[in-house]
Amino acid sequence: MKARPWTVAGATAAIAIGAAIGGTVWRRRHRDPLSYTERFRIQIPRPLITRGHLFELLDPRPGERILEVGPGFGYYSLAVADRLGPKGKLDILDIQPRMLRHTLHAARRLPARNLVAACGRVEALPYRDEVFDGAFLVTVLGEVNDPAAAMRELYRVIRPGGRLVVGETLADPDWVSPQSLHRLAAAAGFRFESRTGPQLGYFSKFIRPPREELGPHYVKSAVKTP
Ligand SMILES: C[S@@+](CC[C@H](N)C(=O)[O-])C[C@H]1O[C@@H](n2cnc3c(N)ncnc32)[C@H](O)[C@@H]1O
Repeated sequence: MKARPWTVAGATAAIAIGAAIGGTVWRRRHRDPLSYTERFRIQIPRPLITRGHLFELLDPRPGERILEVGPGFGYYSLAVADRLGPKGKLDILDIQPRMLRHTLHAARRLPARNLVAACGRVEALPYRDEVFDGAFLVTVLGEVNDPAAAMRELYRVIRPGGRLVVGETLADPDWVSPQSLHRLAAAAGFRFESRTGPQLGYFSKFIRPPREELGPHYVKSAVKTP
């Protein structure tokens, strides 16, 4: 007996949906960094988390030093480095050297040679305290094994009054909700400032409170690292 075309189409669609749901559930349980071979996943259009939306919140200015964690293929890196100009600097940090090589290679066409790469984990940043005017990470936090430690480290390296911008999209199986992100940021000592976009694709901006706001009890790290 011949299977009807709509039965075949229905079965194919059910398998595809099942595989997509299974893959998402698996990824949510296994916090692995996106591998180089999976790069197609971050090369799709991002209407809700554009470079323009990032600029709106991060506002990178010439001469500043900014940190980007998890640049991947440098979707945002080159545009931000360009804004910082020859007197500024964009530090990129990734757990995978291959991602860094890819972005550094692409950065060769930038007029300002202001992009510096370091291989490492956001949970143990290889930078001194309070050296960055700002930091950003897009679709990274959900891949990090210890996001609370990551937030504490970001707080440590951003100067008082500096900003942190985090971007997330539901197109990423490691999506972090704004609610979870805001809890993590607050626990590290950041103050929420603003958000662009809906839950399914957003950037949130936080400030490391300036010294005067913290008063006489100011300590370099808002939360003691265990
Ligand atoms: C989904 S990709 C996002 C890339 C880029 N931000 C973008 O939006 O196109 C996540 C990136 O975070 C990096 N990453 C994952 N865990 C990390 C960690 N603990 N420390 C530093 N980088 C990490 C991965 O290697 C990868 O480059």
